[in-house]
Amino acid sequence: MRIDVLTLFPEMFPGYLGQSLLKRAIDNSLVQIQLHNIRDWARGKHQQVDDRPFGGGPGMVLRPEPVVECVEEVQQQGDQPGHLILLTPQGRRLDQPHVEQLAGKARLTLICGRYEGVDQRVIDLLRPEELSIGDYVLGGGEVAAMVVIDAVVRLVPGVLGDEESNRQDSFSGAERLLEFSQYTRPREYRGLKVPDVLVSGNHPDIARWREEQQRQRTRERRGDLLEGE
Ligand code: ADE
Repeated sequence: MRIDVLTLFPEMFPGYLGQSLLKRAIDNSLVQIQLHNIRDWARGKHQQVDDRPFGGGPGMVLRPEPVVECVEEVQQQGDQPGHLILLTPQGRRLDQPHVEQLAGKARLTLICGRYEGVDQRVIDLLRPEELSIGDYVLGGGEVAAMVVIDAVVRLVPGVLGDEESNRQDSFSGAERLLEFSQYTRPREYRGLKVPDVLVSGNHPDIARWREEQQRQRTRERRGDLLEGE
């Protein structure tokens, strides 16, 4: 998979991209990430990428020309244009089924907004998918883009190494329940013991215990996930 990120702050990404899972995916050529600085497409001697909103109001708005022209040029690179996404709190809220869909694409092109937003003509001209990572407002789309990359890349075949492990994730598998509790050594810590069933070696019992935990947890914490049942 190829992911292009269009941002005014490409320097926010390298630390994140150096993290182990992603680094291995990049080193193994499973994922290719290209950063593009929208400012490189700005015109004029001041290379101004933003301006005050028409009609007044606080903050600055990203001008349409550098964003549109950056997208057009980047989309022409490679074999095929990427599925175009604008990170914005106005977008559809991301969830795991949608992450799974995005993981099936050969290429994604992510536009990170900043300031009070981007000029509406960017959206009208380019028709990106508008995507939010949750009902809160970030300072810009960069952290949201990292969230999308993080969630999508781990589903690209070969990245996790163990394809079973993402079927067991919360929100995943056929039922999309929360995950069960996990334990490791020691068998007892400060008087708290690992449940006997988990050390019983009885795999059908373990599977039943885990399923029951998943249902109970989901019922207690996230009844909304069971509503479709
Ligand atoms: N930019 C600012 N807030 C955002 C959010 N919640 N999701 C995606 N992009 C954003």
